[in-house]
Amino acid sequence: MVFHPKQRLHLGAEAEVWSGEWYGQSAVSKQRRQRAWRHPHLDHRLGVRRMISEARLLIRLRKNGMDVPPLLDMDLAAGRLIIGHLPGRPLIEVLNDQQTTDDYAKSILQRVGREIRRLHRLAVTHGDLSTNNILVNGENVHLIDFGLATIEYDVERYGIDLHVLDEILGASHPQWEGAIEEVIKGYLTAENEFGPPPVLKGGAIPGADAVHERLEEIRTRVRYHG
Ligand SMILES: Nc1ncnc2c1ncn2[C@@H]1O[C@H](COP(=O)(O)OP(=O)(O)OP(=O)(O)O)[C@@H](O)[C@H]1O
Ligand SMILES: [Mg+2]
Repeated sequence: MVFHPKQRLHLGAEAEVWSGEWYGQSAVSKQRRQRAWRHPHLDHRLGVRRMISEARLLIRLRKNGMDVPPLLDMDLAAGRLIIGHLPGRPLIEVLNDQQTTDDYAKSILQRVGREIRRLHRLAVTHGDLSTNNILVNGENVHLIDFGLATIEYDVERYGIDLHVLDEILGASHPQWEGAIEEVIKGYLTAENEFGPPPVLKGGAIPGADAVHERLEEIRTRVRYHG
């Protein structure tokens, strides 16, 4: 595998991410990191499982027309994925940017909701919907980082996806009060655009309204029980 690293984008607990070039193409390398406190064999197995799962989902989502980055290459033994580089910047930066107008933020947040609904309609829940894991390029929104994503049919996991983003928007971006309402608007509108929730081989996908209702329930639960 020939990846030429240029710039480190991110050093997290789980992965080290570099931008660079792969056969002349702009790409990122996502390298799993060893965690000292876990047994090395166990660490390797867990890490590899998550990596394979992310690779598999990237392929599945691209095949179904979502604007996730393409999977270019993977090296299981080295614990590394090579993924196409997407232009743009994380939602967290857009929301923290003083230049960002109300209208632009609203339109982006609705797009975010639309993308999440598209993901959910493929029976995939993201598992880590933070404003770091959403890339924004002009009017386009891309979901990334599918290391914790899973195939689900239970409405609870769909509700939790929205709730994670709700909490992060509230805690990290209090200046954008009502941000989650825009996300929900996009989420619900997408259902009108794409039609009734699909029934897949594994089961029926919970409808957008049902997920929204569950989000409200989760919020109430959290409010009363901490
Ligand atoms: N395909 C991509 N194009 C452009 N930037 C990317 C891409 N993938 C990742 N990045 C940048 O690198 C950062 C970290 O990547 P990612 O979220 O996939 O890793 P992570 O958070 O360490 O993963 P994990 O939660 O599995 O440990 C992202 O927030 C984003 O800024
Ligand atoms: Mg991430």
